[in-house]
Amino acid sequence: MKHIVAVVVLIVIVTIGLATWLNNTVLLPPLASAEGVPIDWLFGLHIQIIAFLFALIMVFMFYSIVVFRRKKGDTEDGAFIHGNAALEIVWTIAPLVIVLYFGYLGLVTLNDITSPGRDELLVEVSSRQWSWSFHYPEYGENGIGSTTLNLPQGRTVLLKLSSLDVIHDFWVPEFRVKQDAVPGMIKELRVSPTKIGAYKIRCAELCGLDHSTMYAAVNVMSSDDFEGWIRHELDEIAKAEAGPAIERGKRVAELMGCQDCHSLDGSESKGPTWLGLYGQEETLSDGSTVMVDDEYLRQSILEPGSQIVEGYGNTMPPGFGDELSPEEIADLIEYVESFSE
Ligand code: CUA
Repeated sequence: MKHIVAVVVLIVIVTIGLATWLNNTVLLPPLASAEGVPIDWLFGLHIQIIAFLFALIMVFMFYSIVVFRRKKGDTEDGAFIHGNAALEIVWTIAPLVIVLYFGYLGLVTLNDITSPGRDELLVEVSSRQWSWSFHYPEYGENGIGSTTLNLPQGRTVLLKLSSLDVIHDFWVPEFRVKQDAVPGMIKELRVSPTKIGAYKIRCAELCGLDHSTMYAAVNVMSSDDFEGWIRHELDEIAKAEAGPAIERGKRVAELMGCQDCHSLDGSESKGPTWLGLYGQEETLSDGSTVMVDDEYLRQSILEPGSQIVEGYGNTMPPGFGDELSPEEIADLIEYVESFSE
């Protein structure tokens, strides 16, 4: 009996000590979303269970090693014990109950953080190797495009995620929630930012060569600042529409991340440079030659794999025809043309 009391006391002490230490150790970045509150609470609960299970095993083990070690001169065999039905029932039922309870908590939390909020802001998130872009379809005639994810504080945002090529994963550690972007599907994720500040999307699905640098900036701002940004962008769009096609094309190139792979100054990159490209004769991977004109560029944007320039891989995502309107593609071609010599 005295051994049981000693072990229980030790387990309680180790559990409390370990749980306190782990809870005071910074394991997570600062929380910045409403969805993260129940997630962090569940995380804390898991830490407590982990501390208890660690104490349970370690205390029994070390107590037995120290207290029941063989005494000097003792050559007898240990007592033969054949099973203990009560103990086996307890250590089967107890974990089952704990796992079921955690499964229930997980279900309630998941339902809680995925259910629609009031007055949601819709943002379409497009991903590709290896950049992100964002579209706010509720503003202006064709929506607002951005390479930074600007969000108002205190409002639930519905993100509709898509991918042009392979599976990427939208993850802002401070928001806690995470969602894959799967080609051919629209995936939804809800976030309610609670803290004004600058954050970073990190792609959390291995997606090729530059996966580790597939970042995008996230700005959580006051709703006044957000409305101000929206007005500013709408002004910019109106100005661009009244202005030359090259300016509109430049904007499209920025939004689609073209310069991640195509340089503008002649330097080598994953795709051919745009400097001096237009009007030039290119040799394709099958040995044939082609004149770079409007038609070739349009074809290369819509079906990048159809005419690969010699020395380059088939790495350009094929989905730009769905992302861009024919007018936007025409503007983009004007922009490429502006770099001809
Ligand atoms: Cu996209 Cu990793």
